[in-house]
Amino acid sequence: MTEKALTRYDSTTIALHWATAISVLALWTIGQTADMLPHNIADGVVWPIHVVWGFALVALVAWRVIWRNMGGAELPAADTGMLQLAAKTTHYLLYALLAAALVLGVANAFVRGYSLFGLFSLPQIGDRAWRRPITEWHELAANALLVLALLHAAAALAHHYLLRDGVLRRMLPAPVSREAAKL
Ligand code: HEM
Ligand code: HEM
Repeated sequence: MTEKALTRYDSTTIALHWATAISVLALWTIGQTADMLPHNIADGVVWPIHVVWGFALVALVAWRVIWRNMGGAELPAADTGMLQLAAKTTHYLLYALLAAALVLGVANAFVRGYSLFGLFSLPQIGDRAWRRPITEWHELAANALLVLALLHAAAALAHHYLLRDGVLRRMLPAPVSREAAKL
């Protein structure tokens, strides 16, 4: 597909997609490593960053879903047959696992009555004994999301490098043309 013929996603969809991808990777990395840090740094700084960033991701994903349903560009399927079914199923599963990880993360923060940087505490809601199982389910959803996102990224890279089509480029920002850059 030539650069001219390529129809990209709209810039809001592209920005929300990459902000979501970076956030999931960062939240997962923080989640898996925070407890290796000294206790006061982990509990006083790093976990509160995870929770605040987590709430920000809830807002980003809500924005993405509203935008998609209010006419944010939805492009025709890139594949046909079984590949199209696999891509569609993966995208729905990505949304489902994102929702599961986010809902369980928020539940986790409220069951713990999380203190954010010693400035503000979330109200403690529900039985504190739920803390452990909710953390385990939250981690399970987060790990499953990461594995599926890696498969999804591998498929996007296979489109780019093996099939040499425009599927990855339509989710990338348009390059600035030389003429526009000169203005
Ligand atoms: C945690 C990381 C990621 C998540 C949660 C995620 C999620 C999604 C979702 C839900 C869609 C479907 C959009 C829709 O139609 O509503 C999508 C599309 C897409 N993603 Fe990702 N993504 C992630 C990372 C990546 C990475 C790393 C790449 C590239 C290497 C990538 C490339 C693409 C492309 C090219 C599309 C468009 C596919 C098409 O038009 O059929 N994504 N992504
Ligand atoms: C998709 C996004 C997210 C990912 C990938 C993620 C990942 C993780 C991981 C891997 C852990 C470690 C679990 C363990 O130690 O067993 C964790 C813990 C936690 N997450 Fe998330 N998380 C996400 C979103 C959220 C959100 C939205 C919130 C709340 C607003 C949140 C709140 C928490 C809390 C409170 C903990 C436990 C912290 C502690 O042990 O003190 N997470 N998360």
